Amino acid sequence: MAYQNILTSQSNGILTITINRPDKLNALSQGVLKDLRSAVAEVYSDHRIKAAIITGAGEKAFVAGADITEFQGLGVKAGRKLAANGQDIFNRIERSPKPFLAAVNGFALGGGCELAMACHVRVAAEGARFGQPEVNLGLIPGYGGTQRLVQLIGKGKALELLMTADMVKADEALRLGLVTHVVPAADLLAKAEEILVKVMSKAPVAIAKVIDCVNAYFTDGVDGLEFELDSFAACCATEDFTEGASAFLSKRTAEFKGR
Ligand code: COA
Repeated sequence: MAYQNILTSQSNGILTITINRPDKLNALSQGVLKDLRSAVAEVYSDHRIKAAIITGAGEKAFVAGADITEFQGLGVKAGRKLAANGQDIFNRIERSPKPFLAAVNGFALGGGCELAMACHVRVAAEGARFGQPEVNLGLIPGYGGTQRLVQLIGKGKALELLMTADMVKADEALRLGLVTHVVPAADLLAKAEEILVKVMSKAPVAIAKVIDCVNAYFTDGVDGLEFELDSFAACCATEDFTEGASAFLSKRTAEFKGR
């Protein structure tokens, strides 16, 4: 598909989505969000796509936040609508049955940090910086940041970062559990692909169930263990389970079909 604010390329089952406004540090304008929504829908619907990487164009930024120029004059109704739109897109990423990986190549601030946190895996280049600086603007995160930051790094550190607007460097993000790997910038996409290739070699239905079950832990009103029981049982009915178990017993590599 042709997009105006993002670049996409597909190779070996991975759709790489590059937010492409490097002169504005890839700030999330409404145009970017519209394209991102479509690209996420593409990941869901295109059977050739098994996983996705989100990254930023240029060397400086992953995404330096929502586009602040679009914030001027925002009232209660429009503000709520804007945040609801961002939350909906990021929820779709988080709930995708196919894994999304954020390859954080620079500043991941505000909506950029929130975008990375909506992905299932985060890897960072050594120069990456993370933060939720919204309080500098008299705002708070509106694309899920107050919730996902707590989920990933815990209440105490999340509150400190949210209230001070401090940025953390990549090595600190690794220590906090905000990312799982830090690599030289030149190796970032290779590391991202290495992780996704490994995930894509597993049974797709099982991967989707893992994502659902982990999300269930954070979903009010859902008994996570009960949800896990149903998901485990559903896996038992798949052809891939039969294939996986028989491949193990006959000491060969399983060939999963996603059924
Ligand atoms: N929205 C809109 N434009 C943004 C932006 C954002 N979130 N972040 C950066 N830009 C633009 C700048 O306005 C500048 O545009 P210009 O060249 O037309 O003046 C360009 O991107 C480069 O940014 P600049 O601030 O000059 O780079 P820097 O290296 O001096 O600083 C940052 C980098 C990330 C520290 C700084 O850009 C910044 O603080 N950005 C806002 C971060 C933020 O508050 N995000 C949360 C938004 S809710």
